[in-house]
Amino acid sequence: MLRLDKYLSDSGKYTRSESSRLIRQGKVTADGVVIRDPAIKVDESTVRVAVDGITVSYSKYNYLMLNKPQGTVCTTDSGDERSVMQLVPKYYSGRGAFPCGRLDIDTTGLVIITDDGPLAHALLSPKHHCEKKYRFSCISLTDDQIKLLENGLEFSDFTSKPCSVDRMSPQSGTITITEGKYHQIKRMFLAVGSEITELERISFAGIDIDTSLGRGEWRELTDDEINILHKNAAQGIS
Ligand code: URA
Repeated sequence: MLRLDKYLSDSGKYTRSESSRLIRQGKVTADGVVIRDPAIKVDESTVRVAVDGITVSYSKYNYLMLNKPQGTVCTTDSGDERSVMQLVPKYYSGRGAFPCGRLDIDTTGLVIITDDGPLAHALLSPKHHCEKKYRFSCISLTDDQIKLLENGLEFSDFTSKPCSVDRMSPQSGTITITEGKYHQIKRMFLAVGSEITELERISFAGIDIDTSLGRGEWRELTDDEINILHKNAAQGIS
């Protein structure tokens, strides 16, 4: 059970004070009945709340996808002017949202931002083998180098797991990995004698980047996308 004004503000559409105002103005119904007291408690798992007749769904957590531009960093420090958190409304940092995983400053593409700590933790856990797909450009890549990348490589601090590489041209393709070590793909390419010149994440844990988003643009995840993340986190695979 939670207060009606909290239910409304958790929907992400209204601040807590806007929610209280709308309730006092008699614009909010719970199961079809006008409620004018913001402190009235509702059962968030069953109640149907509407504002001006339009249903508002309760969301305990927020989930966004951002198309990260170059020059930004995946830090939770929303005061850092290069932080990806600067690209989404302050409301989300205020709710405790953070980027789920890190991309390098010069890597672009899909970043999931959420305040769902348990989900982010599950997706980022090394045990979960969550798939991440990247589009790359590189100086050049031969069949032999692809085989080496795909089989796994030994570094001083870790051994990369088998992965898949699809080459589109001698200088470009996609790579799907199930880990997230620091500079992992760049290090893998250097280890086989190539070099990444551009890297863009196009998929994460079963969610593809929305190609209608320009760099620096974001949108909320759809219910289907949120379900995919939960399913992948629960299964430990994606
Ligand atoms: N691998 C890298 O080298 N950099 C990234 O940003 C992501 C994966």
